[in-house]
Amino acid sequence: PASTTRLPHGGLAVGGVDLVEVAERFGTPVYVLDEGEVRGRCRTYKDAFPEAEVHYAAKAFLSRAMVRWVQEEGLGLDVCSAGELELAVTAGFPPDRIVLHGNAKSPRDLDTALRLGIGRIVIDSPSEIARIAAAVGPDGRQKVMVRVVPGVSAGGHHKIRTGSDGQKFGLSLSDGSALHAVARVLAQPQLELTGLHCHIGSQITEVKPYLTALRRLVGLMARIRDAHGRVLPELDMGGGHGIAYRPGEAALDVTTLARRLRGELTEACAGAGLPVPRLAVEPGRAVVGPAGVAVYRVLAVKHTGETVFVAVDGGMSDNPRPALYGVRYAPRLIGRAGAAPRTATVVGRHCEAGDVLAAGVELPGDVRPGDLIAVPVSGAYQLSMASGYNMVGRPPVVAVHDGTARLLVRRETLEDLRLRDIGG
Ligand code: LLP
Repeated sequence: PASTTRLPHGGLAVGGVDLVEVAERFGTPVYVLDEGEVRGRCRTYKDAFPEAEVHYAAKAFLSRAMVRWVQEEGLGLDVCSAGELELAVTAGFPPDRIVLHGNAKSPRDLDTALRLGIGRIVIDSPSEIARIAAAVGPDGRQKVMVRVVPGVSAGGHHKIRTGSDGQKFGLSLSDGSALHAVARVLAQPQLELTGLHCHIGSQITEVKPYLTALRRLVGLMARIRDAHGRVLPELDMGGGHGIAYRPGEAALDVTTLARRLRGELTEACAGAGLPVPRLAVEPGRAVVGPAGVAVYRVLAVKHTGETVFVAVDGGMSDNPRPALYGVRYAPRLIGRAGAAPRTATVVGRHCEAGDVLAAGVELPGDVRPGDLIAVPVSGAYQLSMASGYNMVGRPPVVAVHDGTARLLVRRETLEDLRLRDIGG
């Protein structure tokens, strides 16, 4: 995780900046992003996949600075709404290097994508085909891909498994709807089918499901060639690459994944008599997750029966992941050494009992109000999934790099919270 340095007296520095200083300067809760770590992770992908397109999945975390870093490191971008797309393009990202996803793209999503000149639109359902063709207009031509469900189950939690039938994304390989959709796309002169896409799930820590999915997609490419005489030049294997949230947990090794995907692709294409398509991957979590740290201040400590509750100034509105997926984090006290550890439960400030950030973790026995708690590996799917619950306001994002800290996204103020409500 983030380029952390342990400082004396229990301190923790990220990107050369003491987190206590960040908390004092910007307030808490605060999300700290290590720019060097994000860039380093982008480079790991570029090095591992020199011949492939690497699209960063913006849904994991997006800000204007993030857009710049990803662009400067040579990655493309995957977006799933007009909001993400417009932020990226106004921050200077080239639209032709952006891919639009979504199982239910709104008219605004499609209009914005076409207006801005998006690189690819990934078709997720049959009803979209005619809609996109109509929106493109008689003289236009838009590059599209078809998202296929290959029938592979993988992912860290049932809510984030998307590779099998019976969930809402993509077009089934097994019941023929993927091949049928391909035929319909090929019949639309406004649409240029560049390839197939799949995203089998998220927080996957094994290579094997990717290889199985890849073989099945190459098989479908061969059937498309046989049925339509069309050889598709691109194959997008999606994201989902798992990371470690706590010390000792397994992560997917990007270099191994790249090598095995490449090997499997070469072999499968040779077997099918197909030229090797250009590969693409779409990592989100693995690019930004380990580069983020959330810092909270303890507001209350309570002993109830056997349990010690340590209540902090954020919670499920900035990090819904423990409540949604039962994910376990490794919070730690920063800023002072603390007494011998004991088991505690870190809870948020929200008005429900399910607002638990980390149950049964080891924290110093003398944790008290005013202390700072850092939660490493907080860069992905926390702020991007933040809600307005209890109107506490969303925390700011601070970038740390080479010993300096700078604000990227400011804290939501009481005024922000009030402004959209026009009284009616
Ligand atoms: N491509 C597509 C089409 C996706 O739907 C996703 C994530 C990705 C790429 C990137 O997946 P990643 O590499 O980040 O795993 N909120 C959940 C994760 C949901 C993932 C949604 N799709 C969580 O907090 O674990």
